[in-house]
Formats: sequence, C-alpha cells, structure tokens
Amino acid sequence: MIRRRSTINSMSCTTSSLLGLSGIGLLFALLQLQIAPSQAHVHPVLTYKNASTQLGQLVTSSTLVWESYDPKDAKQMQSAVEGGKYITEDEHYPIYVCRVTIDGVRTSGHTEKVQQKHVCVAALYKHSINEHFDVLMNRGHLGKIAWKHWTKFNAGIPVGAIQIGDDSYIGRHRAVHHANAEGGETHRGADYNLGRLEPLGLGKIKVAESEGEKYYDEGEVLVETEPFSYELRDIKLDRLRTTLRENMTELASGILENRGETYDTMEKVMSYSFDYLQYWGSHEGVAKGLPTKIYEKNGAAPAEINWALKRGEKRHENKAVYSKLWPGTAINVTLRGNYVTLEAPYTAKLSAFYYDSESVSRKISAEVRKSYLKDVKMEFSPVYWIENGTVVPTTTTTSTTSTTTHATTTSTNEPTPIHEPPLVRVEHVGVKHSGPDSLEKTLNDSTATNEISSNEAPENMSSKDAALAGFGIGGGNNKAPATIAATGLAGVVGSSITLILMLSNL
Ligand SMILES: *[C@@H]1O[C@H](CO)[C@@H](O)[C@H](O)[C@H]1NC(C)=O
Ligand SMILES: *[C@@H]1O[C@H](CO)[C@@H](O)[C@H](O)[C@H]1NC(C)=O
Ligand SMILES: *[C@@H]1O[C@H](CO)[C@@H](O)[C@H](O)[C@H]1NC(C)=O
Ligand SMILES: *[C@@H]1O[C@H](CO)[C@@H](O)[C@H](O)[C@H]1NC(C)=O
Ligand SMILES: *[C@@H]1O[C@H](CO)[C@@H](O)[C@H](O)[C@H]1NC(C)=O
Ligand SMILES: *[C@@H]1O[C@H](CO)[C@@H](O)[C@H](O)[C@H]1NC(C)=O
Repeated sequence: MIRRRSTINSMSCTTSSLLGLSGIGLLFALLQLQIAPSQAHVHPVLTYKNASTQLGQLVTSSTLVWESYDPKDAKQMQSAVEGGKYITEDEHYPIYVCRVTIDGVRTSGHTEKVQQKHVCVAALYKHSINEHFDVLMNRGHLGKIAWKHWTKFNAGIPVGAIQIGDDSYIGRHRAVHHANAEGGETHRGADYNLGRLEPLGLGKIKVAESEGEKYYDEGEVLVETEPFSYELRDIKLDRLRTTLRENMTELASGILENRGETYDTMEKVMSYSFDYLQYWGSHEGVAKGLPTKIYEKNGAAPAEINWALKRGEKRHENKAVYSKLWPGTAINVTLRGNYVTLEAPYTAKLSAFYYDSESVSRKISAEVRKSYLKDVKMEFSPVYWIENGTVVPTTTTTSTTSTTTHATTTSTNEPTPIHEPPLVRVEHVGVKHSGPDSLEKTLNDSTATNEISSNEAPENMSSKDAALAGFGIGGGNNKAPATIAATGLAGVVGSSITLILMLSNL
C-alpha cells in the first residue's frame, strides 16, 4: 500500500483554543474567602533579610503574622510562637511572644496567664500589663524560628530578625535566678524575659523585669528562616466533593481529499492546542510563589508549580488522519475532545525545605483545580465528490469483493460505485498531552488499581486511539485486534449514516 502525504497547506484546518473559562475569577475569590483567617485582626510581620543587592531589607514574612489576641478563641495560642516557660509551684506553661503599643511606640513582651486569660507583659519606659495585644503566629508551622545568641560585639541585626517597631527586633534575656534562703534555686515566673533588640550604637537588648526595664549587652534574638521550596505528596482527593465539568469541544476540522489519479491513501496532519491549567490552592503560612513540586500518585514526573499561583500552559498536539480515497473524492474530518475541569478539596503532606536545616512536613488541606483535555476522537463525513459535493454511494453488500481491491484499482477510470466505505485511521504524532488526568485516575484507585495499565496501551492503533477514533473494541484484550468493528460518526453532515467497517491489518 502506498501512502501519499497530501499537501497539508492546501487543506484548511481550524484550531480552536479552549480559553474562555469564565467564572474562574469568581472561584478564586471564593477559595480565598474560605481560607481567610477567622475574626482576629491580622498584621504582616516584617523580617530583616538579605536582599539580592544589599543586606538589611525588611521583607514581609510569608509564614508569620501578628494576630490580635482573642480571649474567646481557645485554640488561638496553638500557633503562637513560644518565648519560654512560666514556672510556678504547680504549673509550667508556655509563654508567647506578644506586642503592644504604648504611647504610640510598639514594644514586645511575653504573655502570662491571669485567670485563664493571657495578658501581655511588656515594658518600654515602665512595667506594664496589657489586655489588648498582638500575638506572633506561625500559623502554617512551616516557618522555622529559633532564638539566636546575640552579643553587642557580634555585630548588628541577625538575618531573619523579626521587627517590632521602627527600629527594634524581638529579643529575650534569661531571667535572673535568685537563691532562696535554703541556698537552693527556686525560680518562679518566666524563665525568659521577652523584650527587644535595639540596634542603636552597638545595640542593646531591653527586657521587662519585675523591677522595670533592664538593658543587656547580650541575650537572644528571634530569627526566622523561610523555606526555599516545597513538595506536595500523599495527595488525597475528597471524592464526594469532587466535581468534573466536561465540555465536548471541537479541536480541529479539515478535509482529506484525493486530487490525484489513483486510488490511494491520503494523509493529513491536524493540529490543535488547549490550555492545561493547574492550581493547587493556597494555605496559610505557606509562601505564595515558592517553587513547589507536586508528586501525584500516577504522575510520571512531578509537576513544578509556584505555590498558590495559577499555572497554565498551552499544549499542542498533532494527529495524522489517513484514509484510502478514490480520485476526485474527499471526506471531512473533525477532531473533538473532552475539555475537563476537575475541582476537588484535598489533603496532602507539604514538606518545606530550608538551606541550612532539615525539612519540615505537615498535613494541609486545600482545593485543587485542573483543566485538561481527554477523549480526543475523530468524526468523519461520508465520502463525497470534490467537484460537486455529492455523497458517493457506497455499497457494503458486495463485501465479498473486498479481497479483490487490488484488481479494481487497475480500472481507475471507473471509480463508481465504490465497493468499500473508507478506512479512516487516526494516529498520534509527537508528544501526547491529552488523556485522562493523573489526578482523575486517582479517583478510581481504590476499586481497580490495574485499570491504569490497560489505559496505557501503545500509541498507534491502541485501545485509546481506536476508541478516540470512534472505534469500539470488544473484549478486554490489550493487543491491537486484527479485526475491529468500527463506527464512523457521520454527525458532521447531519445525516445519520453509520458505517460498519471491517479493518484488517493496516
Ligand atoms: C465549552 O467550551 C466552549 C469553548 O471552549 C465555551 O464557549 C462553552 O461555554 C463551554 N461550555 C461549558 C458548558 O462550559
Ligand atoms: C547575608 O549577606 C551578607 C553580605 O552579602 C553575607 O555575608 C551573609 O552571609 C548573608 N547571610 C545569610 C544568612 O544569607
Ligand atoms: C458529481 O460529480 C461526479 C464526478 O464528476 C459525478 O460522477 C456525479 O454524477 C456528480 N453528481 C451530481 C449530482 O452532479
Ligand atoms: C472511573 O470510574 C468511573 C465509573 O466506574 C468511569 O466512568 C470512569 O471512566 C473512570 N475513570 C477513569 C479515569 O478511569
Ligand atoms: C504500532 O507501533 C509499533 C512500534 O511503534 C509497530 O511495530 C506496529 O507495527 C504499529 N502497529 C500499527 C497497527 O501501526
Ligand atoms: C464538508 O465540509 C464543507 C465545509 O468545509 C461543507 O460545505 C460540506 O457540506 C461538507 N461535506 C460533507 C459531506 O460533510
């Protein structure tokens, strides 16, 4: 059999883009709302960072926030940053970093409990106890924070220091232990006094102590290390709340025609593109824009996204369509595909990676949205005369003569009636992007784990392309069957002619 590649240029081929997903904006807005924190007021935290060109820029932390204390919220302190322990004879409880504004100046201190409520003990010019204050929160528990030793001789503000006011950073100083009458050590109260580093001159750490405010030449400064990348694994979709919106879309259409002299196989390559989109939601304490690798269960290679940003890429595909046609005849071919938008709440393990320390993992819940193309299939019209568009009559009754096809090709001057309906075949060319999404596949995981392998049949006359081409395959056989009962869809012309084809080895 001779295959002739017909001139692609002469054939019209329309490509439809699959943009036009209105409503996405609204969805994003809804997502944001859902994830937004509760009633408490939240203020950004500024940290002292090394910028690319100069040392000492204040950068908004992606993992820490100041949150106004809400005595009614019993769970609020679960994410609060600890500054030490409060020790009494009967209890040891954590104290947290807090911030108040006294006489228009912000200063930090630590919390203490007064009748099951927290108050902020902070000092500026005087010892003061405050009931309205902000608490430092590490809400995603993905920011790494540490108390770093500081002395006035080891220079300036440590990288990662957390700003309180205009020029002060969170610091602390170990509480002075007093010997009791018996000579043993009794310590009651906070083990650390929290205050601030004021870098003026060589710098000082100022803390509130029972007698008032004290200045020290050494102490500790709270520093934050932010991760440089994330990984998302163990992704589990909430099946009950998963939605799949499907949209059968025309991808490309064209005409396969034989303007030659002989009965021959004509070929046409049809191209189209679609927008492959993915968005894995956002989460508090997880830095927006950070490079994130998404490890899906069935994904071959991890997808690389920027956290909390929509990722979209235009993907191009080509399909070659073949049919044996008589001189002067043509068929119309249309490619359609199912453009799917999957939306699902999910849980997953998010790991954060740091330059100078071990990674941290935690479970998160967010919402994922993916748009992709699957089930690309071909539709074709009946054979018609190029000259006048009249449909060529086909007679399927004389199928016994199909073995003598080669004999009839000699009489090229008499192409009518055609004894065989056309054999139309579609093959994928180049990189394949369409197909059921790896995430969609996981929805069926629990029931049939072997199902995936049968979907991954070879490219050419595989079950997939055969099915996409409108061919139904009987039996659960993975091998390309020798004979295929094929149904050509004649929807293009509106008439409902169904062609039953016998395909033998192409
Ligand atoms: C299907 O996609 C087309 C174009 O891509 C769009 O115009 C149409 O609104 C979509 N239909 C649905 C139901 O989403
Ligand atoms: C910050 O930048 C300074 C000067 O470029 C460099 O010496 C220092 O090592 C950097 N520190 C960190 C933690 O990146
Ligand atoms: C259309 O053209 C073909 C080939 O020239 C011819 O055999 C056929 O009779 C024509 N049909 C009509 C309705 O003109
Ligand atoms: C998942 O299962 C449903 C019903 O069992 C089926 O309709 C669907 O095609 C399957 N999806 C995949 C990707 O296998
Ligand atoms: C499918 O492709 C394989 C190799 O890629 C080839 O050996 C085989 O003949 C092809 N089958 C068909 C039906 O084109
Ligand atoms: C083939 O497509 C052309 C437009 O491209 C249309 O005018 C014609 O009616 C179609 N013919 C058949 C048989 O579908």
